[in-house]
Amino acid sequence: MPKPLIAGNWKMNKTNSEAVEMVTQLKEKLNKNSDVDAMIAPPYTALSVVYDLVKDTRISLGAQNVHHEISGAYTGEISPLMLRDLGCEYVIIGHSERRKYFSCSDEDVNKRLKAAARADLKPIVCIGETLKEREEGSTFDVLGRQLKFGLKDLFDREKEFLSIAYEPIWAIGTGKTATPAIAAEAHKFIREKITEMYGAPFADDIRIIYGGSVKPGNISSLMSEQNIDGALVGGASLEADSFSALFDF
Ligand code: PGA
Repeated sequence: MPKPLIAGNWKMNKTNSEAVEMVTQLKEKLNKNSDVDAMIAPPYTALSVVYDLVKDTRISLGAQNVHHEISGAYTGEISPLMLRDLGCEYVIIGHSERRKYFSCSDEDVNKRLKAAARADLKPIVCIGETLKEREEGSTFDVLGRQLKFGLKDLFDREKEFLSIAYEPIWAIGTGKTATPAIAAEAHKFIREKITEMYGAPFADDIRIIYGGSVKPGNISSLMSEQNIDGALVGGASLEADSFSALFDF
């Protein structure tokens, strides 16, 4: 069974002084449940100051996005090598907000995940359906397509440290969490699809985490489901109290 991961995605929040304040508090509170991996993904601007605070702790650093080239004329983009150089261990790829507002496609996800893995970053690939797609009954078609193209043609090294985040878009930042049963059904489908693509030994071990309004009040019921190996958390990751409470499931 994969080791659980609780990951915080700060999105476009926190100045450097706010980041330092939050992480200083978090370090004091987060001494429990060390059988769970912990990661925070601040905005790019705070990666360096946060790294200095977490480098000797159990908290890993992550980035929220990455470009697929190592360097070049891509104004405004950040490369996998740059993230690695700043101390990042993880990178979130294909978050629904990147897909919706910044045209990130499944093909981009595939290129970014390969480039990130080649730079020794651990990719967390996000997939999930909209409310319309769920209501139309096409959830599994959407997830299947995102996996088929997003995880296409991966070499061993590119998939070794891969995690998947199932994030139903209708549950992100809305306060509506998928019920544990809905989430578990999607996670089971994802594991089956990955088994089809890459075989059981790999699929059995891949970490599939859930995201969408995860809070201290619902983490235990989500984590008690088979196939849910952790959480990708937005809103509740912004405060040390609520984020540290997620490790008490
Ligand atoms: P939320 O965000 O926890 O605020 O719903 C989750 C995410 O977007 O990863």
